[in-house]
Amino acid sequence: MKRSVWNWLFLLSSFGLGGLFLFSVWQETFPEWKGYQAEYYQRLARVTGDPSKAEAPLKIQQIYLPEFHRTDRCITCHAGVDNPKMKDQPQPFRTHPDLGNPEFLAKHPFNEMGCTVCHQGQGPATTKRHAHGPVAHWEEPLLAKELTVGTCTTCHQNIPNLKGAERLVQAQALFQQKGCIGCHTLHGKGMLVGPELAETWRKGVDQFDFRYVRGEETTDRWVKEHFKDPQAVVPGYPALGIPESAMPRYELNDEEVQLLTALVLSFASEEKEDGRPIPARFKVAAAAPAPGPVYASKLEHGKAVFQKFGCAACHGVEGRGGIRNKNMEMAEEVPPLIYIAKGFTREELKETIRKGRYPARSDPNGPAPPLWMPAWGGKISEEELDALAEYLLSLDPDQPTPAASLTQTRKE
Ligand code: HEC
Ligand code: HEC
Ligand code: HEC
Ligand code: HEC
Ligand code: HEC
Repeated sequence: MKRSVWNWLFLLSSFGLGGLFLFSVWQETFPEWKGYQAEYYQRLARVTGDPSKAEAPLKIQQIYLPEFHRTDRCITCHAGVDNPKMKDQPQPFRTHPDLGNPEFLAKHPFNEMGCTVCHQGQGPATTKRHAHGPVAHWEEPLLAKELTVGTCTTCHQNIPNLKGAERLVQAQALFQQKGCIGCHTLHGKGMLVGPELAETWRKGVDQFDFRYVRGEETTDRWVKEHFKDPQAVVPGYPALGIPESAMPRYELNDEEVQLLTALVLSFASEEKEDGRPIPARFKVAAAAPAPGPVYASKLEHGKAVFQKFGCAACHGVEGRGGIRNKNMEMAEEVPPLIYIAKGFTREELKETIRKGRYPARSDPNGPAPPLWMPAWGGKISEEELDALAEYLLSLDPDQPTPAASLTQTRKE
């Protein structure tokens, strides 16, 4: 190459460097947060009618939390969170919501807890992009507002009575109704047809396959898209004989997807081990465990056992079927349980539940059906098994709902 070309290149690159330098000086002098803070003080001057407020010096504000190993600078921009006068202002200046509970802010003093313990996000960052994320090397981007309730379990054990956590209680009911525990373990309890759910949110983003998920690569995005359509997100490798996801594709609406995603998040926050422990004084223990429920009848007990072990996972809500099982003989569907009384004696039924079964293949040369009947022997007590059999034998295909059949005497 000619010498003059090198000279030109050198000149160009020094212009580039100079430009970068000027840009960083400009950013230092007029950072994003100064704009927000200046506007905050102007708005504060207006709502208080005190013009001197607008003259306050601009500086980075932070909540330093050595106990939590955190420093949260969110209040640099969100300067009005604890000022009730700012309740009608736009974000990021607005007063923090109280979740319909006037005690909420007093019980969670920001100067002792900070923000990221509930919201995630990158505490020390002072640009919106970095504080909210997602950015490289930060695993916990700001949670969508709808998911924030999932982190209440970081400190609270007693969710069913927790004001402000009603959506989480709704999510738990959905989890029970669908019988997720029949296919998944949660803290080691349940069945390992699918993965342990307390681990999901603790995995790094790099442990999820994002090839079939559009948009930002965050855990919540993957989990949400997976709930909407498990087979689209986990299609397997048909060419290698690795099957698509065996998880049912529920027809969930958007709110239900949010609820279940927040619930999966809440499983992980129960015992976080990310090097930022929650000090014991912030943990709110559950009240003494309630005495075991008393059932009005054996049938009612049986219905509760059906839920406890998640039989709906594969046999559908109230045993009504509809769960696909690829390459399983007959209809490629796990059998419903509402016809049981027609084909099983009580003892045969109990033995099937104790021992489990592997279904036969529809195409003998095709892959094994992904769902099988797990063995419950050793997990279920004789009393529970007895009640469960009573309930299953009472299910009657001619009755629109088993609830109705609960009030009927069973025809032998
Ligand atoms: C540089 C300024 C800045 C910083 C720092 C910042 N935010 Fe924000 N935040 C904003 C602005 C501006 C909005 C308004 C909505 C928008 O533009 O996204 C906002 C909105 C929000 C919202 C509402 C989102 C919604 O769905 O409506 C939450 C929650 C939030 N911020 C939390 C935090 C937390 C937690 C931190 C600290 C980790 C933080 N922010 C740090 C500027 C900031
Ligand atoms: C104890 C948990 C908790 C703490 C601590 C907490 N927040 Fe929140 N915050 C929530 C919840 C829950 C919501 C969502 C409320 C809802 O569902 O609308 C929320 C909502 C918000 C919003 C959106 C409000 C709106 O009007 O849309 C902002 C902004 C926000 N928080 C900022 C902060 C900042 C900044 C801090 C730290 C100074 C903080 N939060 C500390 C639980 C918390
Ligand atoms: C960092 C730990 C922490 C987190 C996260 C947290 N809380 Fe709390 N919460 C506390 C502490 C500590 C108290 C005070 C308990 C007391 O007064 O005995 C409390 C008290 C409460 C109370 C009133 C007393 C009670 O136990 O009923 C409510 C309601 C509440 N929290 C709701 C929530 C909700 C909703 C969330 C999630 C958005 C949440 N908290 C997240 C620590 C936390
Ligand atoms: C992980 C999926 C799965 C779960 C969870 C599950 N089952 Fe099954 N179950 C199956 C499959 C698959 C079959 C069909 C087996 C076959 O074809 O041999 C089956 C068959 C049965 C049968 C025989 C039905 C018939 O018509 O032949 C009974 C009874 C039964 N299950 C009861 C239960 C009960 C009670 C529970 C809850 C304790 C339960 N199952 C949970 C997958 C499951
Ligand atoms: C019929 C069995 C079955 C049922 C019922 C089922 N799942 Fe799954 N689930 C699976 C299998 C198998 C996988 C692993 C393959 C995949 O990722 O899709 C899985 C994966 C998942 C994952 C991803 C976990 C991870 O760490 O990668 C989540 C989250 C999940 N299920 C939640 C649920 C919830 C919540 C329910 C109840 C609403 C549920 N599942 C019901 C079988 C099931």
